[in-house]
Amino acid sequence: MCGIFGCVLKQGKAAPLIHAALKRLEYRGYDSVGEITIYDGKLHMKKDQGKIDEVHKIHDLDDLPGSIGFGHTRWATHGAPLQINAHPHIDCKGEIAVIHNGIIENFAELKKELEKNGHNFKSKTDTEIIPHLIEEIWDKNPSLNLIEAVHQAVKRLDGSYAIAVFSTKEPDKIICARNESPLIIGVGEDGIYFASDIPAFLPLTNKAVIIENGELVIISEKGYEIRKIADFKLVTREPKIIDWNPEMAKKEGYPHFMLKEIYEQPERLRDSLRLQEHYLDLLATFLDRGTEIFLVAAGTSYHACLAASYIFSKLAFLTSYPIIASEFISQQGKSIGINSTILVVSQSGETSDTLAAVEYARQKAATILALTNVINSTLTRISRVYIDQLSGPEIGVAATKTFTSQVSILTQLAIRLAKKRGKVSQDEMDLLAEKIEDIPNAVEKIINTKAEKVKQIAKKYKDSKTFFFLGRGISTATAYEGRLKLMEIAYIPSIAFPAGESKHGPISLVEPGFPVVFVCPMDGTHKTIIGNIMEMKARGASIITIIEEGDEEIKQLADDYIEVPKGFPEVLSPIPFIIPLQLLAYYIAVERNLDPDKPRNLAKSVTVK
Ligand code: M6R
Repeated sequence: MCGIFGCVLKQGKAAPLIHAALKRLEYRGYDSVGEITIYDGKLHMKKDQGKIDEVHKIHDLDDLPGSIGFGHTRWATHGAPLQINAHPHIDCKGEIAVIHNGIIENFAELKKELEKNGHNFKSKTDTEIIPHLIEEIWDKNPSLNLIEAVHQAVKRLDGSYAIAVFSTKEPDKIICARNESPLIIGVGEDGIYFASDIPAFLPLTNKAVIIENGELVIISEKGYEIRKIADFKLVTREPKIIDWNPEMAKKEGYPHFMLKEIYEQPERLRDSLRLQEHYLDLLATFLDRGTEIFLVAAGTSYHACLAASYIFSKLAFLTSYPIIASEFISQQGKSIGINSTILVVSQSGETSDTLAAVEYARQKAATILALTNVINSTLTRISRVYIDQLSGPEIGVAATKTFTSQVSILTQLAIRLAKKRGKVSQDEMDLLAEKIEDIPNAVEKIINTKAEKVKQIAKKYKDSKTFFFLGRGISTATAYEGRLKLMEIAYIPSIAFPAGESKHGPISLVEPGFPVVFVCPMDGTHKTIIGNIMEMKARGASIITIIEEGDEEIKQLADDYIEVPKGFPEVLSPIPFIIPLQLLAYYIAVERNLDPDKPRNLAKSVTVK
């Protein structure tokens, strides 16, 4: 996830506006920054690694000439956060510049083709293929104009993108295009703007035009023109007036970052399906070779590991041990050695307990693999191979979008592993591949159709003193995560455990009205969990269930239920089933007048032991 902004002004300097807008976009990415303008027939560019303020101190980002330009704040996906990989990227002749938010899936093929035709690449990014592709198309057909060359180029791109392009050969316009990454046009008195989100241009204008997937926009001093990428047909769309206050603007109109990040999940899950195959394959190869596999993490990332241990076993017949990072050394320390493989999961890549476990295992010559959201974090520097979870920065202290992305990626890893180990039939594999593609839409549906119902349930239970969260099988991980969300932001002491454990102790707490949340996918655990619901019901518990659509049997037993789309394989269930629980925690916290973004005593990244 990165942030883009640009403008074509009627007069005045673009650079200070770009710099200020990038500051407002910094939450989308902050490992490198770049700006470019056209003036006097030449490109003028400044870019470097580091946060905007750091780069500004060295390069003065306000000091570029010209009234047309754009800028980019980066959250690395392809290529480390280095100056060379910072956007903008330019073609061989230094005439075409591009910024991009998203992931070009077919960049490797295109790069090979362009290199064969003599193009010289400087970075490791997927984005750099775009200016070279436009250059190639334009060189071959010099009669084309910039719009036509860009149009032909975007037709060859697979993946997600919001891009902006300009050229010194037609210095009066910027061409933008969108597929699955956000792009909004701002229509002002003094010029036309574009950005990844509305707050970037809100101090300049409150008139916004949302660009849809598959559209291309031509921006000039005169205005904006939208065209369909497929057939170049003109689209007419009037600006909308945005009436957000500055505080709402930072959160794109959401009252809290946590809610914004919950709503972002469909987009982030789509990104999680755009992993670079060779990294997945490499990780799968190391896991396949390992004699003993440990999945090490803390908090929410540990819950993703717990889910992964079920998934690895079910799909790839691989035994793995999920271990809480702070316990790893005392629990497993003596037995770790050259044959141990440690898959470390950490959103921040900086959690102190997790890094201590990694450092210890490294000393013992274990193989360290990692899944993290922050490229260039300590974890990426000390692991043998890592994969980027592509969630974009998460600001809410309670992890939401990073959990679902982690589970999605760990499932894809399990599928690769199963293939390698010949454990799953082709039909099963095809079904999984198809269903995993459907997950972002299912999550979108849950968020859009169930939030109101969850809010009502939250009102009903907001004063409860304790909750149980129960699941069986892989849903145990979902139950643990649902409980952590409620506890950390709503301060309600809650207990989660595999439902089969109830009779071994915890059921003694249950009395009439005691809320018990059951996670009930229609998998192999369905029949048994009905028994667990019955035993709680018999003691007067209030039963709240997360069920699949049309699960009439459990619906009849529940005091309250939330349905999620049906038909997802068991291994994918934590993703749709956690969404109502994230919303439940959020709305209960709000009902209790608590700020879900700033839970007391907690920090986003725990860098002390
Ligand atoms: O950055 P990490 O994934 O290593 O962080 C681990 C935990 O600190 C984190 O998940 C924490 O539990 C969150 N507050 C959960 O919402």
